[in-house]
Amino acid sequence: MKFSMNSRLGSVPPYVFVHLGKLKMKALSAGKDVIDLGQGSPDLATPDYVIKAATDAMADPKTHGYPIANGLLEYREAIAAWYKKRFGAEFDPNTEVLPLIGSKEGLGHLLQALLEPGDGVLCPSPCYPAHINGVILPGGKPLLMPLKEENGFLPDLDAISEADLQAAKVMIINYPNNPTGATLPDTSLLVKALGLAKKYGFLVIYDNAYSEITFDGYKAPSIFEIEGAIEYAIEFHSTSKSYSMAGWRLGFCVGNPVAVEALAKLKGFIDYGVPSFLQRGAIAALEGPDDYVIKASKTYGERRDVLADALKEIGWEVSRPKAAMYIWTRLPEPARSLKSLEFSERLIEEQGVVISPGSGFGPEGEGYMRFSLIQSPERLREAAKRIGIFLSSLKAAV
Ligand SMILES: Cc1ncc(COP(=O)(O)O)c(C=O)c1O
Repeated sequence: MKFSMNSRLGSVPPYVFVHLGKLKMKALSAGKDVIDLGQGSPDLATPDYVIKAATDAMADPKTHGYPIANGLLEYREAIAAWYKKRFGAEFDPNTEVLPLIGSKEGLGHLLQALLEPGDGVLCPSPCYPAHINGVILPGGKPLLMPLKEENGFLPDLDAISEADLQAAKVMIINYPNNPTGATLPDTSLLVKALGLAKKYGFLVIYDNAYSEITFDGYKAPSIFEIEGAIEYAIEFHSTSKSYSMAGWRLGFCVGNPVAVEALAKLKGFIDYGVPSFLQRGAIAALEGPDDYVIKASKTYGERRDVLADALKEIGWEVSRPKAAMYIWTRLPEPARSLKSLEFSERLIEEQGVVISPGSGFGPEGEGYMRFSLIQSPERLREAAKRIGIFLSSLKAAV
């Protein structure tokens, strides 16, 4: 047979959540009560008014045909209006705004649309897996920017070599960050990144999927709060986390028109975009009141504290992020001899608790684990209790 996975696809490991999902199914079919703190899929309900807008639209047969690949003009206008209201940034809905089938789709396809084989991309490590794999799949070369705990999980832009800066066609930045939960203390990193982009001619992809889920009074910035950013930047957003719409597959990007045009052209050959009735739901989300995201943030913030307190009780000290929906932490003392994947696999098998191994987010993630705050306080306490039992069994085995 002449066909098989191409070498680039063959070179990337299977998506970590697919592997964990299989172990979870095995535990469930063995009758275990599984607590899933793995994938960052919000468990909260989508706002009622969003569901109503989408179902009302679905009742109209005019929404049943192919959608327009670059999205309804009303959706693009709603995105532009939301950006103006939220960040004070203005975009032309015709050339600088593009609806997506989730931001993951857009990120992957933009890299495909921009990269020639061998092109360099400055990419954080650890990172959301779609960032690095999105570079590898079209033949790009990831140039890793380590996110170290001692630097608050921010990349040290001064440490990037001249050779890497020259080779880079794109730089990817993501704050509030997945998986570390790190936030930008101010916009100085973005200003510096844009300075380098201007000097070396690359595009900054700013992944802002978690901008609305913030705690303790923190407000996440947009790269477009910086004057002139449109020359060198594109920003990705999602309704998945802000409005608990992960299954709806609705995201969008705004920014540099050359990048937007390239992505729109590629998408024109591959997909038809999001069903029009779902876009109506996204419009209702963006035009709706702010209460929903305020309440969702409060819920995730409370869960963060519940989990951090419960882990402290079992001797696992973790820090409390100011945004996103994750706790990222080093493996505790009794588990330091284990690789993060082995810790994860054994925890599912022995205690029915799913947490993500740091290594699933790149080499710099080894030694860390990521908890998603997607369960109720009771289930989070129960998960911590079971983890305590697992850690005690490791101690006893030494
Ligand atoms: C950093 C980051 N970007 C993008 C996404 C994808 O979001 P979407 O649901 O819009 O595809 C995720 C999802 O977990 C994420 O963590």
